[in-house]
Amino acid sequence: MQVPYEVPRLSVSSAAIGATDADLIIIPIAQDHTAATVAAYDAIFGGDLSSALDRGEFTAKACETLVLRRLAQDWRTARVMFVGGGPRAEIDAERVRRMAATAAQAARHQHLGRIAWADVEAGTLSTAARVEVIAEGIVVANFDNGVYKSRNDRQFFIKDAVILSGPDTTTAAATGRATGESINAARVLVNEPGNYLTPRILAEKAQALAAVPGITAEVLDEHAIAALGMGMLLGVSRGSIEPPRLLVLRYAPASAPTGPTLGLVGKGVTFDTGGISLKPADGMERMKDDMAGGATVVAALRSIALQQLPINAIAVVPMTENMPGGKATKPGDILRSASGLTVEVNNTDAEGRLILGDALWYARQLGATHVIDVATLTGAIVVALGKTTTGLFGTPDPWVNHIRAAAVRAGEKLWPLPLFDDYREQLKSEIADMVNSPGRPAGAVTAAMFLKEFAGDGPWAHLDIAGTAWAEESKPWQPKGATGTMIRTLVDVARAGLPGI
Ligand code: BES
Ligand code: MN
Ligand code: ZN
Repeated sequence: MQVPYEVPRLSVSSAAIGATDADLIIIPIAQDHTAATVAAYDAIFGGDLSSALDRGEFTAKACETLVLRRLAQDWRTARVMFVGGGPRAEIDAERVRRMAATAAQAARHQHLGRIAWADVEAGTLSTAARVEVIAEGIVVANFDNGVYKSRNDRQFFIKDAVILSGPDTTTAAATGRATGESINAARVLVNEPGNYLTPRILAEKAQALAAVPGITAEVLDEHAIAALGMGMLLGVSRGSIEPPRLLVLRYAPASAPTGPTLGLVGKGVTFDTGGISLKPADGMERMKDDMAGGATVVAALRSIALQQLPINAIAVVPMTENMPGGKATKPGDILRSASGLTVEVNNTDAEGRLILGDALWYARQLGATHVIDVATLTGAIVVALGKTTTGLFGTPDPWVNHIRAAAVRAGEKLWPLPLFDDYREQLKSEIADMVNSPGRPAGAVTAAMFLKEFAGDGPWAHLDIAGTAWAEESKPWQPKGATGTMIRTLVDVARAGLPGI
């Protein structure tokens, strides 16, 4: 049986490098290493590190690797991989995570199943912070997205990983491992094709993923959704033979019985054809990832619960296909939202904002005080910020800044865009309260302006991950496909606690 990932046995040890028995020892090295460092390694590797550096075969720039064999007979492991860190001052959480993932992925490709990481390069981080991201990097590298190949002979996973650092880093390693595992689980869902992941199946799988102590789950079917008056979610699902679902997860630790509640809302479109406003055929297969926001918030809530963070949190995920069936919503149709606002659907491909509008309203009904939604919402955000940076929108500014700070700590890139009142003009409809597709100018902003109408009065932010949820190219630290972006940032928001705004 092919599995998409395995979680390796992961431990920390204070053993010396030479006394460690593994298939491969990974040694990070900064670009601005000292001559003394190189000399020490030269003694073990017969000058091979120096000569690789002299020839320029290896320069220790970020995520570059060099494999050498030890000569010292008293070393228990015969092979090492140096992994470059780039300039020491740049070695932050994201760099270390990528270095660890790069080395672990390279080890997997060489079928080296027992690895050890020598924690000898401090960079800019504390030991605990470093060990956390090393563990996380190793876990996310143990991922194979070729599960549907009938002959995947080369599937190989790391079984054992040891981080050679102090014994007091056990908790940090466990946290990194749990985060990595949640990221992998979300990536599996996002990679899943539409025929294997209908709204009903997504609801089941997401519920299973969230089945950890402290979380209770509820799945609303099409009748319960109708009873709540969610005309926008129903309007999108009408074109499909598959009924919609609304997943609600609640996390309430004993340590935080009352107080503010974080509300996470995620777009769960299991396939987006565009509906009657059909998308072009080229690249449409990518639209199986249109539930990435939903997978992100479920995985984040799971991590929050596993870490027993002292915060109340809920997740709400509207799930549907966007299909052009005989009963599909047509351009010009008017939908009535659960909040009472009416919407003229002038483009059925702007479906994400419709289902999220009803879900945002419901999250407030359920008592969410601080709301964040995550969605592969617009092609326009890819034009604005590209494939590296998530778009951030929201109000008021302290809440937006709180999320920015969390993203910096988590090592994920997001950048704010404005929600000036002037943009509201574009949402105007002749016959309803607003249109769902306000035209090309500032497309990512006007999508967020639409959501804002349903987000209620408290702090709210919107993360547009249309550019960042899916990697178009494989990198040494990350294969092509689902990235699991923003899970770490959401968990870090919860870790920091909710500000009084
Ligand atoms: N799921 C898409 C957004 C998307 C586009 C995600 C490209 C990833 C890559 C969304 O539902 C959509 O179709 N948005 C339209 C909105 C438009 C009709 C106002 C878009 O961006 O073109
Ligand atoms: Mn669409
Ligand atoms: Zn969509």
